[in-house]
Order: sequence, then C-alpha cells, then structure tokens
Amino acid sequence: MNITTRNLTHTDFAVEVIGVTLDDVHKEGVQRRLQYLWLKHQVLLFKNLDTENEQRLAGLSKVFGRLEIHSRIEYLSNQVPELLYISNVKEGDRKIGALGDGEAGWHTDQTYRPTPALGSLLAAHVIPPEGGNTSFADMYRAYDALPEELKHRISGLKAVHSYEHFNEQYSEPSNSKQKADGTVQTHPVVRTHPITGRKSIYCPKSVVPYIVGLSPQDSQALLEEIHERSFRPEFVYEHKWNLGDGVLWDNAAAMHRRDTWDPAYPRLMKRTTIRPPEDLAVPF
Ligand code: OGA
Ligand code: MN
Repeated sequence: MNITTRNLTHTDFAVEVIGVTLDDVHKEGVQRRLQYLWLKHQVLLFKNLDTENEQRLAGLSKVFGRLEIHSRIEYLSNQVPELLYISNVKEGDRKIGALGDGEAGWHTDQTYRPTPALGSLLAAHVIPPEGGNTSFADMYRAYDALPEELKHRISGLKAVHSYEHFNEQYSEPSNSKQKADGTVQTHPVVRTHPITGRKSIYCPKSVVPYIVGLSPQDSQALLEEIHERSFRPEFVYEHKWNLGDGVLWDNAAAMHRRDTWDPAYPRLMKRTTIRPPEDLAVPF
C-alpha cells in the first residue's frame, strides 16, 4: 500500500492522507506510517469515511493511542461510547450532542484536565449546506515565529485553564461528572510535545482566564499578545467539511475553533478522544 499526503496549507501543517482504506488500519505497516504522518503533520484529513460505521471510526482512532470515553457522558454514542457527538440535533427535548450550533472559540481539547487528550478525530456525519467550518492553527510554527524577547518573557510562565471560562462563552455548564473530576488546571504557557519534543504555544484565551503571578491587567495584556501571535492567517487552516471527512488533530501542537451556521440546519459530527501514552502524559 502506498500512503501519500497532499498539503492543505503552504506549510505541511495540514495534509490530506491519500491511499489508506479502513480495511487496512489493523496492519502494522499502515499503523506505523499513519503514526509517523501524525507526528510530522499536525492535522490529517481522511476523506470518504463511512461515518455510519462507528466501530471503524474508533478503529482508525485507536491507531494513534488508547481512546478515552469522554466525560460529557450525556452526548456519547449509544452504540460505541468512545464516540462523542457534537451536534445541534434534538431527539424530542433531548440534545444529542455537545456545543450546539454556536461558535466555539480557539481552544485545544480538555486542557481543564491534568493530562489532556493528545488527539481528537472529528468526522462529518451530517453537515449544513454552508457554515460550520472548523479552523486549525499551528502552535509549533506560531511559537517558532515569536520574537526572542517574547519567548523569553513567557518561558516558565503558567496559565490557569478553566472549562467554565470556555463554557460561559461557547458551551453549556459542566455536568456533575466533570465537576467531580475537576474543571480547572494549570499548564505551562509553552508546552513541549511528549513525543516530538517540539515546543508550542498552549495558552488560548477562550479557556485561560489568567496567567499565574501577573496582575489582572498584565495577564490580560499578555493573553491578548499571545492570541494575536497565535492565530495569524499564515498559521491557520480552515476546513470546509464534506460528508465523510474525518480530521485528526494533535492537541499539543494545534488549536481549533469553529464557525456558527444557520441553526435551521442539522450538523452532526462524531468525535473520538485519544489519550497520550500514560508515561509521557506529564510533565509538559
Ligand atoms: C471538538 C470541537 C469543533 C466542531 O469536537 O472538540 O471543537 O467543528 N469541534 O464541531
Ligand atoms: Mn474542541
């Protein structure tokens, strides 16, 4: 099997993976090739996935690590609990998915946990005719491009990540399981990838209410400065979904956000959550 890639960005941050079918993902050679591609590139696009077949979405995700059953238990698939639904669809009065139809600001998944997910795969099962695009930003290159003076200033700083801070702007309150597990965590502003060893910016203001040890004014100013540097157009890939697209991203090296769409249209995305290797999960 010849698995190749096609760049989706002017760098090799986001690529389409060509030449792999889900029949082959159990093969050792295919797995190694995909794992390599995922470390080399931070966003992988797989086209034409059968999103009805949830076992297979889980199977593709498992190539990259153990799967986590997400703590938004009210939105898990009934068939395959490793899948979380992201949707505005309702069955009667019951929402079937997280995030509804609103915008979601720049973030990276689960930073409110002590050992956040390393990866997420999001697959398009039902999409609106337009809108609902998801954008990804390259935190390796954003970090590399920082002026040395700013790298120096943020080196060693830590930021508080609060799920409620994000939820107040873009989602709904944490459920009781999430509250019990904890929704506030402190992480370095610059993190080191557990496998590649590369540094990246890990400080989205959607999730971070403040940076530890700074006055509120200085903290806010630095968050704005980091934000402005992180999401410049040259670091961003905006994905317009087609049915059957699956996008896998590296939560340590990329951030993502999504646009709203006309709420009259349903959108249903199926997501898996990929754990880091436990012995490399911390420190950052
Ligand atoms: C997610 C997420 C964005 C989208 O599933 O973590 O941020 O496009 N989804 O729905
Ligand atoms: Mn997300």
